Amino acid sequence: MLTDTFGRTHDYLRISITDKCNLRCSYCIPYDLPHGYYAHSKRMTPEEIQAIAKVFVQLGIKKIRITGGEPLVRKEFRKIIRLLSELPVELALSTNGVLVNEFLDDIKQARVVSVNVSLDSLETEIFSNITRRDHYERVFSNIRLLVENDFRVKVNTVVMKGINENEIPSFIALTKEIPIHIRFIEYMPFLGNGWNKDRVITCDKILDIIRASYSFGKLNDPAHSTSKNFRVHGYRGAFGIITTMSAPFCEDCNRLRLTADGKMKNCLFGKEEMNLLEALRNNEDISSLILQSVKNKHARMGGQFGNGYQSADPKNIVNRSMIGIGG
Ligand code: 5AD
Ligand code: SF4
Repeated sequence: MLTDTFGRTHDYLRISITDKCNLRCSYCIPYDLPHGYYAHSKRMTPEEIQAIAKVFVQLGIKKIRITGGEPLVRKEFRKIIRLLSELPVELALSTNGVLVNEFLDDIKQARVVSVNVSLDSLETEIFSNITRRDHYERVFSNIRLLVENDFRVKVNTVVMKGINENEIPSFIALTKEIPIHIRFIEYMPFLGNGWNKDRVITCDKILDIIRASYSFGKLNDPAHSTSKNFRVHGYRGAFGIITTMSAPFCEDCNRLRLTADGKMKNCLFGKEEMNLLEALRNNEDISSLILQSVKNKHARMGGQFGNGYQSADPKNIVNRSMIGIGG
């Protein structure tokens, strides 16, 4: 039912439950703009999150990923995940890993099977420079904890020129013994995040770097996968590359987003938003608004960067910052 004018059917919803975070990753939180949080009254309550999610599920959503900001800093996280687990959907979580040990039981009880953890460096000092917080040890031990508890763990690594591309082989080395899936993400432009095209390390370059030290094979990519996936021969884990910039995968997109202040976005890069929370609070029918929004989905990249990422000008991007959208 959630089919757009390009024939894409959407069955995956990413819900941001907060725009707050306990890290300050440079590529996510604007450098120079003070990061203003939404007023409490603008944020969806746990019950409102469930009510809106329920309508999406009735319209065909089969998988919901809880994101942020950092979802585990939301005080009502336990309640939200419990309410969402009552819906007939597969639940997944994206987190920066810092607080995972405190919520392990809640995540398990909600039958979450897949957890994505962001980690951009394996060196304490570089981790602190990127995130502006000293939580490397906690994040790394929580990744191990998730693996020990049989979660399917993906580690997301944003590759930025001059900052962490030299660590790519060390990330691959982790996949020898640990059954994790490392995903290298091409650096994407958002409001105030220091992006410029020369700081993007593309998929081809990442593969060249890996090829210099490892011999690997291609894996089959699951339907709607955002990453091209590979495995070093004989290793337990795998790796993938998210080629948003050099080779966008929009033709196969099945995802929709809901921001923490209850606005639906068709695309990470789209500027259009549909205010579902306001409509819900006014007792209006939100399912027709959801359908209307989907019909306006752009073919690629939210209708921005028409001529490829090289021509993108970060000053002309009309969108929220990443932390305000939800990862
Ligand atoms: N470019 C690429 N990936 C990003 N993320 C956040 N901001 C960016 C960006 N500018 C990713 C992080 C995190 C997830 C929430 O989104 O890796 O894992
Ligand atoms: Fe927080 Fe994730 Fe943004 Fe880093 S990328 S500041 S961990 S929301």
